Amino acid sequence: MTETWNSESTIPADQAHVEESLTANVLRSFEHCEDPRLKQVMQGLVRHLHAFIRDVRLTEKEWNTAIAFLTAVGHITDDRRQEFILLSDVLGASMQTINVNNTAYKDATEATVFGPFFVEDAPEIPIGGDIAGGAQGQPCWVEGTVTDTEGHPVPTARIEVWEADEDGFYDVQYTDHRVAGRAHLFSDAEGRYSFWGLTPTPYPIPHDGPVGKLLEATGRSPMRASHLHFMVTAPELRTLVTHIFVTGDELLKYDTVFGVKQSLVKDFIEQPAGTPAPDGRDLGAAAWAKARFDIVLAPADA
Ligand code: BEZ
Ligand code: FE
Repeated sequence: MTETWNSESTIPADQAHVEESLTANVLRSFEHCEDPRLKQVMQGLVRHLHAFIRDVRLTEKEWNTAIAFLTAVGHITDDRRQEFILLSDVLGASMQTINVNNTAYKDATEATVFGPFFVEDAPEIPIGGDIAGGAQGQPCWVEGTVTDTEGHPVPTARIEVWEADEDGFYDVQYTDHRVAGRAHLFSDAEGRYSFWGLTPTPYPIPHDGPVGKLLEATGRSPMRASHLHFMVTAPELRTLVTHIFVTGDELLKYDTVFGVKQSLVKDFIEQPAGTPAPDGRDLGAAAWAKARFDIVLAPADA
């Protein structure tokens, strides 16, 4: 007697019984877990992990390779380099967790990946201030409003922004530890905000470690579509972690961490050199860009 297990192989019934008994045994081992959520998560994990091992008929050599890979991911991780987040990102696990936890609510702005480059305590800037702090790139004026889903302005929302420089590096990747390309500001009484940033450019995620090797081995690119990160918090509203992307960027379809959502793609409109800046700033002979991002926050309990 045989049982068809997947499209490519047939598992004898006795063998299937051995495998299924093991899964049942492991599931039972969590039966007395007193935390019902922990029990549910662990049993779900075991169910899917065993199904995966059986589905691909994982070899022992492959399992050892996986252990060595995860060990390398751990070894390269420290407080400045988070390879586990990268791994979660390139597998779409970060994005799927975000999808599950940020269900659409009215016209609330969509969330996307956090990434590994956020830093607490970035400097505060006034409305209209500059986040560059010496990071190189084309100046870009970003403005918009923060409202709730009923259209009411959200005053004093805390807006964290961070981005890579024109060479694709965040300040935490610089060797001199200076702070650049990041800041926080607060929306005004009408929920308005604006700041000078840099026109986003595409860059590769760090790919000199095990995750980079995985991408290479599987014929994938490490590139992210150009983007500017936001995290917006306000009392009683759902914290929004998101980015805006650049209309026309060829990488929109191939973002290696699957972060692009159409609603987050914005026009970054080129302003030829000499075009007066909104705040009267003298940009000399430099061209600049401007973008608008109106942010809508869902209620915290949505
Ligand atoms: C980022 O956008 O900063 C990022 C996101 C995921 C992985 C690596 C970088
Ligand atoms: Fe980024």
